[in-house]
Amino acid sequence: MERVSEHLSHHKGNTFVNRWTSPEYLDSLQNFQIRDSDLFLVTYPKSGTIWTQQILISICELSGDLNEYSNNLEQMPWLEHRGTRPDYALRPSPRLFTSHLLPALMPPGLKDKKAKIIYVMRNPKDNVVSYYHFSKILAGLENPNSFEEFLEQYLAGNVGDSSWFDHIRLWRSVHDQYNILYLTYEEMIQDLRREVVKICNFLGKVVSDADVDKVVEKSTFGMMKKDSKANYKFLPENILSGDFMRKGRIGDWKNTFTVAQSERVDRILEERLGDMNLQFIWE
Ligand code: PPS
Repeated sequence: MERVSEHLSHHKGNTFVNRWTSPEYLDSLQNFQIRDSDLFLVTYPKSGTIWTQQILISICELSGDLNEYSNNLEQMPWLEHRGTRPDYALRPSPRLFTSHLLPALMPPGLKDKKAKIIYVMRNPKDNVVSYYHFSKILAGLENPNSFEEFLEQYLAGNVGDSSWFDHIRLWRSVHDQYNILYLTYEEMIQDLRREVVKICNFLGKVVSDADVDKVVEKSTFGMMKKDSKANYKFLPENILSGDFMRKGRIGDWKNTFTVAQSERVDRILEERLGDMNLQFIWE
């Protein structure tokens, strides 16, 4: 382990937030027993995680096989958050987990390709703006002095959960090693119903049109903002001092980026991921 700053450390290629986990806990995940019915949501932070949690929970609730938990965080906890919910092995199936980890730190049993993973990507310009605002309100993250400063840290990968560029490359490169569905935040914005149907098909759930409508309705930005199980307002003020549900749009980066910053990100994106044929929706 190498300490990067007061808030961050490196461990096995991963940059993690000291407040939330530890190298020992991350290593212990190599012995985490996967069940065939487990469902994992994996994202880089600020890519639509809590949105997709709400969609997945709403779909799984339709068949009545989910245990009741007090909110979406309890229902779908972050795998890597140290010891906060030590009951994972005792949980009834199906278990739902969230993670921001890179593939190498995930439990090896996922490679049996029975348990499912959904990976959501968001364009890096909206992603960094969302992350910048979030860094000011979540305990454990460094409060940036300016967007300019945060962008530098982000591009260098010195932010919680590593470099966005590494996350995308590494998770895209392992598509044949996992039972994985790739989604994007922008396509969810453009046609939420279509993406919900895609998820239902991946999960092998036969869902009526009316039930798809219900899931879509519960997962809109407006509905989630009012839903106390889904909007993370249940976190205490000393952990979260602002709103998780900020703007929920594509293209908000234009209100923050300078032209030079935007061109720089375009250049780095081409250098780092240009060979991967990824399509980005910017507005
Ligand atoms: S985290 O901390 O990694 O779990 O954050 P994450 O949930 O990945 O990202 C938060 C951003 O997702 C937006 N969001 C939504 N957008 C559209 N529709 C819905 N329903 C929705 N729910 C959450 C949230 O507003 C954050 O984006 P920004 O751009 O900051 O608004």
